[in-house]
Amino acid sequence: MKIGQWQHSTGPRTHMHTLPIKMKRGLLVVLWSLFCLCVADTATGNKPKHPIEFDQLEISRKYVPAKQHASASKSPSSSSVHGGSQDYQRKRDKIIAMPGQMEEAEFTQYAGYVTVDANAGRALFYYFAEAPQDPSNKPLVLWMNGGPGCSSFGAGAMLELGPFSVHSDNKTLYKKKHAWNTVANMLFVEIPAGVGYSYSNTTSDYHNTGDKRSTDDAYTFLVNWLERFPKYRDRDFFITGESYAGHYVPELANLIISNNRARGATNVKLKGVAVSV
Ligand SMILES: *[C@@H]1O[C@H](CO)[C@@H](O)[C@H](O)[C@H]1NC(C)=O
Ligand SMILES: *[C@@H]1O[C@H](CO)[C@@H](O)[C@H](O)[C@H]1NC(C)=O
Repeated sequence: MKIGQWQHSTGPRTHMHTLPIKMKRGLLVVLWSLFCLCVADTATGNKPKHPIEFDQLEISRKYVPAKQHASASKSPSSSSVHGGSQDYQRKRDKIIAMPGQMEEAEFTQYAGYVTVDANAGRALFYYFAEAPQDPSNKPLVLWMNGGPGCSSFGAGAMLELGPFSVHSDNKTLYKKKHAWNTVANMLFVEIPAGVGYSYSNTTSDYHNTGDKRSTDDAYTFLVNWLERFPKYRDRDFFITGESYAGHYVPELANLIISNNRARGATNVKLKGVAVSV
């Protein structure tokens, strides 16, 4: 995964009223967009990608007790993402240690795939970092990067607002001081399929992508993800994102609201949205 070399601000940016600053910000946005396009180019190539096991990426397991290894390497009994296997799937998604993670995290983190179209074999990758303190009383916040084609894991989580960033050795991680998971349970999703680790087994999915499908996939992802993490079903939920997610965020909010109104649809407790430049 390609990661930019320059530092990016971690919080939502505020409005500036002086022209030179505006121009600087404009330049920053242009540079950022170019970076995202680079990521998009590499991420949306023609070859269908296969899911990457987080285990395969693991570099450091220094502090991990032996018995955790044993339970994490049990073989799956079913590849279905629905029903009873969701409990199994959630346990399997739990991260023992991130690649390059040198110290124990004081919060629980997960990563994995949620199938959004079983026929096409399309699945979205997520990274979920719970709050270190009192996670059961903190909201659930979804974060989406823009682009289209910008990785929410590579950029959003690792460069901007997630709990870890990569040292200049490009191998080891350090903890970020102003990580958003100090105040919320942060769910990063890579969208659409083809971005970051999200993939489809149907090559044409990479060409026939667009806002409508991204929104439908994001909704399907969310409903299935809440099945896997049922304790978050009734949690206050916020949708956040930046750049081109200025499309994804309101479109997903709109779909949630109309589906909440429809009889029989899963009720998602949407409380608010936030979009930054
Ligand atoms: C995509 O294909 C791979 C290899 O056959 C399979 O393991 C995986 O489950 C498929 N993905 C989905 C979402 O169906
Ligand atoms: C880390 O990655 C960047 C970008 O690819 C590269 O310029 C730099 O030399 C790398 N640093 C090390 C220590 O490998």
